Amino acid sequence: MKAIEIRNKYLNFFKEHGHAIIPSAPLIPENDPSVLFTTAGMQPLVPYLLGEKHPAGTRLTDYQKCLRTVDIDEVGDNRHLTYFEMLGNWSLGDYFKEESIKMSFEFLTKELNIPVEKLYVTCFKGDEDCPKDEISSECWKKAGILDGHIYFYGKDDNWWIAGEEGPCGPDTEMFYDTGKPKCSENCEPSCDCGKYVEIWNNVFMEYYKHADGRYTKLEQKNVDTGLGLERMTMLLQGKETPFDTELFYPIMKKLEELQKTDDIQSRRIVAEHLRASIMIISDGGRPSNVDRGYILRRLIRRMIRHLNKLEIELTKLSDLIELNIENLKEMYPVLEDNKEIIKNVIIEEKDKFVKTLSHGEREFIKEIKKVQEQGKNRIDGKVVFRLYDTYGFPPEVTKELAKENNMEVDLNEFDKLFKEHQEKSRVGSEQKFKGGLADQNEKTIAYHTATHLLHQALRTVLGEHVKQSGSNITE
Ligand code: ALA
Repeated sequence: MKAIEIRNKYLNFFKEHGHAIIPSAPLIPENDPSVLFTTAGMQPLVPYLLGEKHPAGTRLTDYQKCLRTVDIDEVGDNRHLTYFEMLGNWSLGDYFKEESIKMSFEFLTKELNIPVEKLYVTCFKGDEDCPKDEISSECWKKAGILDGHIYFYGKDDNWWIAGEEGPCGPDTEMFYDTGKPKCSENCEPSCDCGKYVEIWNNVFMEYYKHADGRYTKLEQKNVDTGLGLERMTMLLQGKETPFDTELFYPIMKKLEELQKTDDIQSRRIVAEHLRASIMIISDGGRPSNVDRGYILRRLIRRMIRHLNKLEIELTKLSDLIELNIENLKEMYPVLEDNKEIIKNVIIEEKDKFVKTLSHGEREFIKEIKKVQEQGKNRIDGKVVFRLYDTYGFPPEVTKELAKENNMEVDLNEFDKLFKEHQEKSRVGSEQKFKGGLADQNEKTIAYHTATHLLHQALRTVLGEHVKQSGSNITE
């Protein structure tokens, strides 16, 4: 089954079960300055989970474009992605555990035809904040999950919250047994050896975690679920990685044709980061040195470095973007309309980076001379950091060049400085984004409407290319 078929089956199934299909929110949150990107289907729904009435009713379903950057450096292995699509269904004070579990079981076994032997589930084992979730486990048994296929874990595994504060609750997770041998006697769903793959998460959101760590009950009991489309596609197709599915395969193949040096990790990084960049730009993101823009910049630059590593000429970039859009447009038709903008943004950023690389290289040569004059063969972490911070020169590149000059670099010190820098920017962005969702009073709502009116006026007068997204609207 192709990804788009799984998506359609999902939406239709929940529609038949009384859910309204709502559109995906943009990757760049509309009026939620508390996060850089949409990281879960529930994020645009927070006000409704907290009790506001949703115009489409109390049962909703959608596919949501998501971006998570915590694992950006892991991309290149066989499973990590930054951009992914999350299928979700919600109950806003409507059904709760029993119906939610019944529908999930039916969808997995009847619509996707997953044999029940392959399904494992986990439930919350209980602690001082919330009792053991016996109800969910009973519902699973009643639905048809086999004996011995239900596990209980604590907050680390079976509790869900976006960030530190907000609506949250115990969850029940569904796992797919790939049939691989157990990695040890103790191998069970919580193990990340790859035998059991998490496919779906149903969160029973009946709590609110406050900034001071206290939990209180929400006014209404909600259900929030998330199913990772790329992962499900890979499993149903019996593939080892998402890169072997139709979502990435044509790009991976093209890269293999073009490359002069073989490196599967680099091919994955290029394919993944290119897709993520295309999706961000299509939703209005542009590269810059701060916040969201910096993440997009990092994705594009890392992709370029790996094209260089594969020894693929950068003039091929335009074709690669077109091929990617061609491949994705069935799922995201808007990409076709935004094609020229997407190409221009990526290619402009590529040109800037190429310049940066050559400036950085000149600086690097100066540094090398200094070190040699001192009769040393080790480049300071401080220098590596300055090249990175001032010239955007990636430490991996510094290391490679140093090696070519028979030198070493102190990457430990670089890592230390880098962490300090990250910590500083994290604190900075937290301060900047204080307010966020909590700030939903009449005045900010009016301002929010005004930005939309202004945006539309600009589009009417100047043209459809005008695009504003992501805002930090406060009193
Ligand atoms: N919000 C839940 C998750 O992201 C469903 O896993």
